[in-house]
Amino acid sequence: MDGNGRWAESRGLPRHAGHKEGVRPVRMCIEECARRGVEALTVFAFSSENWARPSVEVSSLMQLFLEAIDREVDELHKNKVRMRFIGDRHALSVKLQARMAATEQLTAANSGLKLQVAVSYGGRWDILQATKKLSAAVASGAMALEAVTEEVFSRELMLSGVPDPDLFIRTGGDYRISNFLLWNLAYTELHFCDTLWPDFDKPHLENALRAFAMRERRFGLTPGQLNVAREGETSQRA
Ligand code: FPP
Repeated sequence: MDGNGRWAESRGLPRHAGHKEGVRPVRMCIEECARRGVEALTVFAFSSENWARPSVEVSSLMQLFLEAIDREVDELHKNKVRMRFIGDRHALSVKLQARMAATEQLTAANSGLKLQVAVSYGGRWDILQATKKLSAAVASGAMALEAVTEEVFSRELMLSGVPDPDLFIRTGGDYRISNFLLWNLAYTELHFCDTLWPDFDKPHLENALRAFAMRERRFGLTPGQLNVAREGETSQRA
């Protein structure tokens, strides 16, 4: 969700105004994904590296997260959204941690969209925390080294239980992943658009989904192998 700062600065506004304006497209994406039956949506709200921003911007973002949770949680719950926060919570205020835990508890049994909000999150941090947990289990003898498979490793990551993303969307005109879900994005289709996040609206999302629908996803196979697999699926259905 990149471009909030530039959106505000180009209007002579403080950067915080851009973040505030960025809540609207988040709501639109959640509503659209829920309506379309998308299984999971993960939004990158605050990275491990964002802590190095000016303290006034960091604290205004933390305040914005608190306010957004308080304002939106009932509606999300009513719409059966299951909400989780992913990231290193230790660095967050006790108040924010408590709101996150309460929101997760409230929505845990919901059967609709799985919504993950990444706060204080970094893909490298995520891989490292999983590695540490598994290393401790191996070192203590609770787990054999040979038992550490990709599947077992995935279960220790923050997106455990959520399928790997099919589509990654980055706004704001930069072409990079910026330490998002490094492990989980291995075969994700990437979509970049120049629109600044506060201006990202339904047609932009539809455009990304249309572009995604045109992609051929081979997962390392050859086009010939894919055709054989597709023919198999068709004859199974017939
Ligand atoms: C990146 O833009 C955006 C952020 C660091 C904050 C994202 C937060 C929101 C969209 C607020 C709402 C979120 C939730 C989950 C309620 P930037 O500041 O790096 O923009 P720039 O590249 O133009 O400086």
